[in-house]
Amino acid sequence: MKSYDVAVIGGDGTGPEVIKEAVKVLDAAARKFKLKLNYTSFDFGGERYLRTKEVLPDSAVSDLKKFPVILLGAIGHPDVKPGILEKGILLRLRFEMEQYINLRPVKLYDERFCPLKDKGPKDIDFVVVRENNEGLYTGSGGFTFKGTPHEVAIQESVNTRRGVERCLRYAFEYTRKRNKAKKLTLCGKTNVLTFAFDLWERAFHEIGAKDYPDITRDYAHVDATTMWFVKNPEWFDVIVTDNMFGDIITDLGAMIQGGMGIAAGGNINPEGTSMFEPIGGSAPKYTGKNVINPLAAICAGAMLLDYLGETQPAAAIENAVIKVVREKLKSLAAGKMGYSTTEVGDLVAETL
Ligand code: IPM
Ligand code: MN
Repeated sequence: MKSYDVAVIGGDGTGPEVIKEAVKVLDAAARKFKLKLNYTSFDFGGERYLRTKEVLPDSAVSDLKKFPVILLGAIGHPDVKPGILEKGILLRLRFEMEQYINLRPVKLYDERFCPLKDKGPKDIDFVVVRENNEGLYTGSGGFTFKGTPHEVAIQESVNTRRGVERCLRYAFEYTRKRNKAKKLTLCGKTNVLTFAFDLWERAFHEIGAKDYPDITRDYAHVDATTMWFVKNPEWFDVIVTDNMFGDIITDLGAMIQGGMGIAAGGNINPEGTSMFEPIGGSAPKYTGKNVINPLAAICAGAMLLDYLGETQPAAAIENAVIKVVREKLKSLAAGKMGYSTTEVGDLVAETL
């Protein structure tokens, strides 16, 4: 029997509730496919910070690095100033574990839940490969003359050849393996960000021409990308982009696939520890009400199994989610599903 160690961080707000359902479904998959999943919970998040005044213990990263995978609920607490937990926990883990890819599939399961007119599941099925360790997220920059009329605030976008290249290579490989349209679109802003996206574009074409001649290379500015997401989402197969643009376009991506309730992602270090999460936030106003949609967390669990090489159980979870979405749910939004959080978890586990 194959056995995997899984670190679990429920985190803040509705995080623990949705993670409970994800674990329920992972356990159902484990029973069916004869796997053993060994969970270890970590209490990182806003409550722990408020209690101990420590964002992350020094041992956190080295402890988590012992696991191949982490399942994360949500980080963000209404009583903690924005930025402290996000930078101190989520971004720190992404950076220190070198999870340099943020993989975010955008797939519509049922046209009833798509806000776009005349678009269905065959039109909305693409994947965003977001660079996850560089760009505007490194914290590089600073203030001078803070609080004076001369104040200067600088926030720098860091793009290294190594960081850009490893992200592009991952995206090319992913496009090849996915084997759908075999098209990779670079999403950038070469007309304004003439340093950062000059590097991205040169590396994209160099690497593509030399090592991936079977992959069609395409380019779209980020503003146009958001327009195409609404007008012609069927044009996309795989999109590769920097950290900030990837953050922004995947919220729009989530909406066209049915909302934050269904959108999952993986922070991936192909050679190390990867961390899977629903991409929506901690939704404080729904906390403890048993109304939040757990499907994004359940789909994050499927991505986690897929990453471990358990493609069959991963596909089985996704198929169970599709069936429940299409045959049972009234809506994908919190409180409107026609079922509670725990009932949706039960439905997926039973269907599996
Ligand atoms: C996301 C989130 C994070 C990000 C925040 C919470 C730091 O929006 O995962 O998309 O900007 O990456
Ligand atoms: Mn985001």
